[in-house]
Amino acid sequence: MEKTLVLLKPDAIQRLLIGEIISRLESKGLKIVATKLTVLNEKTANQHYGEHIGKPFFDDLVSFITSGPILAMVLEGENSVSITRNMMGETNPASANPGTIRGDLALSISHNLIHGSDSLESAEKEISLFFKKEEIINYNLTIENWIHD
Ligand code: RTP
Ligand code: MG
Repeated sequence: MEKTLVLLKPDAIQRLLIGEIISRLESKGLKIVATKLTVLNEKTANQHYGEHIGKPFFDDLVSFITSGPILAMVLEGENSVSITRNMMGETNPASANPGTIRGDLALSISHNLIHGSDSLESAEKEISLFFKKEEIINYNLTIENWIHD
């Protein structure tokens, strides 16, 4: 089953929005199969956001994402990568649709609360950056037949 990496960024933790954001993703039918509260070091932040090295916002992005605890999660479900991205809304909360996490809860592009993998390939790479294989739990929910095809 498709898996994706989600990070609740330091602003989500500081604004006490962990429950609100997880509740949306969990209610959608995505299953939490791994989770970890952690503080990123610069090396891991550079690896995670490697595609943005050299861009004007890169240094600020790394200082922000390493500035305090984040909550990392692996979510599992059919089309979990694109579903999570749709639920997050656009990168800039100013243009994110109402009903999305960023559209409803954030104002600023540098404090946009949540990261979600942008492709299956990124998801695989990002999951292995944050979690060891044995930290990802394979289990069934009894309600799964009511959620999946
Ligand atoms: P993320 O990786 O954090 O999930 O966000 P994303 O895919 O929606 O956006 P991405 O293009 O990957 O950018 C990563 C983060 O960098 C900051 N950013 N600032 N000032 C700017 O033009 C700018 N562009 C991107 C955002 O905080 C974004 O989440
Ligand atoms: Mg991205």
